[in-house]
Amino acid sequence: MKINLNGKISNVKAVWYDEPVIKMIDQRILPETFNIVEVNDTRELYDSIKNMTVRGAPSIGAAAAYGIAQAKALETDVEEAGKVIKSSRPTANDLFFAVDFVLQHEGETKKYAEMYVDSIVERSRMIGVNGNDLIGNNKRILTHCNAGALASVDYGTALSPIRMANESGKKPFVWVDETRPRLQGARLTAWELVQEGIEHKVIADNAAGFLMEREQIDLAIVGADRITRNGDFANKIGTYEKAVLAKENGISFYVAAPLSTFDFSIENGRGIPIEERSEEEVKEVKGVSISPKESRAYNPAFDVTPSRYVTGYITEYGVFKSSDLKILREKGKESIIERIDGSKKVIL
Ligand code: MRU
Repeated sequence: MKINLNGKISNVKAVWYDEPVIKMIDQRILPETFNIVEVNDTRELYDSIKNMTVRGAPSIGAAAAYGIAQAKALETDVEEAGKVIKSSRPTANDLFFAVDFVLQHEGETKKYAEMYVDSIVERSRMIGVNGNDLIGNNKRILTHCNAGALASVDYGTALSPIRMANESGKKPFVWVDETRPRLQGARLTAWELVQEGIEHKVIADNAAGFLMEREQIDLAIVGADRITRNGDFANKIGTYEKAVLAKENGISFYVAAPLSTFDFSIENGRGIPIEERSEEEVKEVKGVSISPKESRAYNPAFDVTPSRYVTGYITEYGVFKSSDLKILREKGKESIIERIDGSKKVIL
């Protein structure tokens, strides 16, 4: 992603590997501070995923893939490292997918971790190419959470089509849900859109219904953390209500995600493990208390949207309806290893 740091334009990824150190943009402190965190071992990686220094399903997967390579480079037990890394967060499928993928290649973990992450970047780019076809000129697009380059190493999932539409001169406008409690929309999506020069406004989480009813939203695109066999999907808490409101108001609602986010082993959304995070995340904003100390809070980090609310799934292979997800399932059965091994380039 292109970023402007004090007038200097650089190209950075959300996470990368400089053996044996994993480097990542600290997503906890943007937009005020841009800082790179160095992760030196499996325990530090576990903490950085759990405390959301790195976040967003594909970026978590990328960090996890590097984590296996790092464990190997440090001559520690890679299977044990895989278990620790997988226990950091429960919902995003990419975490599990990435660890299993690299563990299949214990002898060449660095090569396969790098291939995996290159593949994620290319898949994110292709999601942009495919999703751009759905965006007309001057469309007003709602998004929730951050499904941008920060969340997907580069390009993004939901933001990738918006980036491409902007580059094609279509002048997209983005309504950015603030996304309480961690404010990924207000802090991270807005920051990325500023970097790209894409017009946008941040809205309170409860404003989208009003804007839909007043015909201020043309379509919605969100990311996903896990998509099941029938197309139900988990994404940041608050996504479900936006999808229901979109249907009520006749607004197309798209989910953008790479194959690594699909979990065809789970029949429907009821089977997705939902992370619960700390009460403090709800009771505080940026460390400042906003509730009586006596009050308890409840903080499910994700919700599940049934597939009947989804207009289409924007993937690296094209845009699918839920009834056509079996085509994608067949792609998943092909060996990603063979597809990557066939060439130095990433073959999808
Ligand atoms: O808790 P987070 O910030 O990791 O949640 C992230 C999301 O819900 C994103 O929308 C999802 O991972 C898609 S990211 C391309």
